[in-house]
Amino acid sequence: MDASAAPPEAPAGVGITAVAVAMARAMESRRADRMFHDPYARSFVDAAKTVLGTDEWPSLVAWVDLFYSRGVVRTRFIDDFVCDAVAGGCTQVVLLGAGLDARAFRLPLSTADVFEVDTPSVFAFKDKALADAGARPTGRSRTAVRADLREDFAARLADSTFDPGRPTAWVAEGVLPYLTADQARHVVTDVGGLSAPGSRLVFEHSDRPGPDPRAAAAALTAPGADRISTMVRGGLGSGGRDWVAGQGWSVAITERGELGPRYGRPDDRLAGGQFIIATRD
Ligand SMILES: C[S@@+](CC[C@H](N)C(=O)[O-])C[C@H]1O[C@@H](n2cnc3c(N)ncnc32)[C@H](O)[C@@H]1O
Repeated sequence: MDASAAPPEAPAGVGITAVAVAMARAMESRRADRMFHDPYARSFVDAAKTVLGTDEWPSLVAWVDLFYSRGVVRTRFIDDFVCDAVAGGCTQVVLLGAGLDARAFRLPLSTADVFEVDTPSVFAFKDKALADAGARPTGRSRTAVRADLREDFAARLADSTFDPGRPTAWVAEGVLPYLTADQARHVVTDVGGLSAPGSRLVFEHSDRPGPDPRAAAAALTAPGADRISTMVRGGLGSGGRDWVAGQGWSVAITERGELGPRYGRPDDRLAGGQFIIATRD
């Protein structure tokens, strides 16, 4: 069979969470009042339908029902972060747990090299869908780094063309919660070790410990709907923001609840969390 006609490999394990984010981005991209346009999100969702079992969908749909507004506000906030950081002199962008983030193919990044870190199965799925959609990187380069954030991502990045001497925009979007506090702190420590002065890191933060209770509630509404929530390990957790501030980063906080009105979409469900932009001193 022609390899290009073969179905893509399905994202395995925690990689399935990336499909839920793509579902929210695909829905948002269709709205007349959209906060961003991701032309590849629909391609990912359509490709996922061909390879994921129907038993996977309840969990994805439950996640989108619960977290749609958070997911799309986060996408817009981080789009702006990446564009600002690159305009401000960051010549590298690293997407940690890149999943089906298509920023390397849809944002104006002509002065930047983009590195995406995720698992081999996520890239097998993603790169096939992007190739089928005819996507082209918008930056100087786009490199897929197949690595485990709990183990070898810093070494794999160092083995690539990544240059720790250049200021870098680091994106940890929707990934730290899938790590334990120790693992998440290791990731931030490794990021710090690879960050030239002026580098920036963005992540979402909540001081509420443990999995989000609304995600846990999804388990009650549909069979299998708790699949994503059971993967959550808590990330930096309570005190994590202040810990980052003590690691050589200057921390700026944006309350998530402020962003609904800012983007023309007020929503009570945005209350409670924060976006942290940390700049390397
Ligand atoms: C919820 S998705 C978010 C994807 C992407 N950041 C976005 O916002 O579109 C989480 C991603 O983190 C990746 N991930 C989680 N744990 C990981 C680990 N230990 N090593 C590498 N990637 C990981 C998953 O494979 C998945 O693609």
